[in-house]
Amino acid sequence: MKVNYANFIISAVRPEQFPEDGLPEIGLAGRSNVGKSSLINRMINRKNLARTSSTPGKTQHLNYYRINEDLYFVDFPGYGYAKVSKTQRQVWGKMIEQYLMNREQLRLLLLIIDLRHPPSKDDELMYDWLKHYDLPVCVVATKADKIPRSRWQKHLKIIKDALVLRAGDELIMFSSEVGTGKEELWNVITKHMKD
Ligand code: GTP
Ligand code: MG
Repeated sequence: MKVNYANFIISAVRPEQFPEDGLPEIGLAGRSNVGKSSLINRMINRKNLARTSSTPGKTQHLNYYRINEDLYFVDFPGYGYAKVSKTQRQVWGKMIEQYLMNREQLRLLLLIIDLRHPPSKDDELMYDWLKHYDLPVCVVATKADKIPRSRWQKHLKIIKDALVLRAGDELIMFSSEVGTGKEELWNVITKHMKD
């Protein structure tokens, strides 16, 4: 995919705010601070279009980024961040759940996981939930630059086994820092855009 331009469109809190042009949407879910927004920036070659931060809980709504006239990335608030109030977490949970269950334009969910660690309970729950609703998932194991290349395969296997990765779901190694996996991930995304 050649990214000619990318724009932030809206930070949506209600379905009425979602874009209405029918372009395919690629959602990004994952633990708070795992690197979802950084991944978007790397995919579109922009330093900080998607707001990133070392403080977890930065992304608070469904943030829509349009790439060319081709697709949207939909950046979700991260889960599993203890300092977010329970009420707030329930509000997000409801919004995300509604989006995942009802959004026809959604073509693929990127489940972002930290390659360095085994998936958390929340990661496992999220994956099972997505599979229960039959959504196509690509697991992206990011921050690969933080561990030596010789250990990559071992870590990938741990993730694959812990999630019980279903046939047809891809697992990609990624680094927003150095760009590992970028082309491979674009290939997966463009394949699903036609579905
Ligand atoms: P929330 O919006 O809070 O859910 O976080 P997020 O998942 O969007 O994470 P974000 O992209 O803001 O990144 C969190 C921190 O991890 C930042 O300090 C990033 O610089 C760092 N980071 C993200 N991806 C990578 C990566 O591939 N390699 C390295 N070394 N650091 C990364
Ligand atoms: Mg974010």
